[in-house]
Amino acid sequence: MPVSASIPADDSPDVFLSVRDINKRFGAFTALDQVSLQVKQGEMVCLLGPSGCGKTTLLRTIAGLERQDSGSIHAGGRDISRLPPQARDYGILFQSYALFPNLSVAQNVAYGLNTKRLNRVQIQQRVTAMLDMVGLAGSEHKFPGQLSGGQQQRVALARALAPSPSLLLLDEPLSALDAQVREHLQFEIRRLQRSFNITTLMVTHDQEEAMAMSDRIAVMQAGRIEQCGTPDQIYRHPATPFVADFIGQSNWLPFQRMANNSVDIGGLSLQVEYAPNASGRLFCRPEAINLLPAADADNRVEARITDQIYLGNRYRITLALEQLPGLSLMADTVCEVRDQLPQMASQTLWIALPRHALQVFA
Ligand SMILES: Nc1ncnc2c1ncn2[C@@H]1O[C@H](COP(=O)(O)OP(=O)(O)O)[C@@H](O)[C@H]1O
Ligand SMILES: [Mg+2]
Repeated sequence: MPVSASIPADDSPDVFLSVRDINKRFGAFTALDQVSLQVKQGEMVCLLGPSGCGKTTLLRTIAGLERQDSGSIHAGGRDISRLPPQARDYGILFQSYALFPNLSVAQNVAYGLNTKRLNRVQIQQRVTAMLDMVGLAGSEHKFPGQLSGGQQQRVALARALAPSPSLLLLDEPLSALDAQVREHLQFEIRRLQRSFNITTLMVTHDQEEAMAMSDRIAVMQAGRIEQCGTPDQIYRHPATPFVADFIGQSNWLPFQRMANNSVDIGGLSLQVEYAPNASGRLFCRPEAINLLPAADADNRVEARITDQIYLGNRYRITLALEQLPGLSLMADTVCEVRDQLPQMASQTLWIALPRHALQVFA
């Protein structure tokens, strides 16, 4: 599968940000381990991974707030690896809104504009336009303490974008907000990012947020990028077991190799696209299991429904496999399909594990 197909090469002309072989240690601890990442002009890439995997450190290194031990960073064709933060031309947004509490909303937004050669009227116009853009027209004279968390983060976003930086860096900008506000701001940030066509790198530990907002996702673990790809590539073709487990729900079946395209799971033989010359684990998403297979479908397996959870738009069903006591599978299905299946464990049914949906990890 062409997981790397959408990853531009270092020297591709449409790459804006190029991070090359970055290493960063804190004492004996390796926070970033040979990290390379290319982000295209106007692209939005999310850094996604568990707490402590190095997301913030990578963002801060790109911002010049940390200094890498080795490796280089290029933006817009220039080597920014050794430049101080203020010479790197980016806007940044953190989880904490970091507004100046004693400055008005307008003064906060104008803050980054004072270094640009603009007169008072131009600054005022720019502030008004930015506040309009983030849906806070008319709030110029309020103070941060008078605004909700979501509104404060809008002001912080306006402040970050006001000087027209060529790169936007976002570190968990929505984590402090409640679910409804967060969802709305996800949409707003994505809309602004597209309309400014601004190259954006956003840190999040929330996979749904990453899926909803990014062109591509870089999944990180222990200081490394495990996989970088579109949300669909990451979800449907995880490159490593870590990515498969970290994103979405997963089923795992331990196998022994039988032939080039078949494996054995405790006496049950399954067809796969390609079996490596080793034992390993099969991976399958819950919705990929076919609960109403045709009589001649590949990989038909007899099962019983032992449990189910109703999730409104679908059911999550637990299946025990007749031939494999002790192994169970999780299957997701729409209610229309569920209605056609036997109720519970009193009766068996045939399911199928489509070979194209079975991914093999040696
Ligand atoms: N200034 C520092 N000194 C020592 N260790 C640090 C420092 N900054 C980060 N770390 C460590 O580096 C690791 C990665 O941190 P961070 O990049 O903040 O992770 P994330 O943002 O993915 O949660 C963590 O184990 C953290 O404790
Ligand atoms: Mg962090």
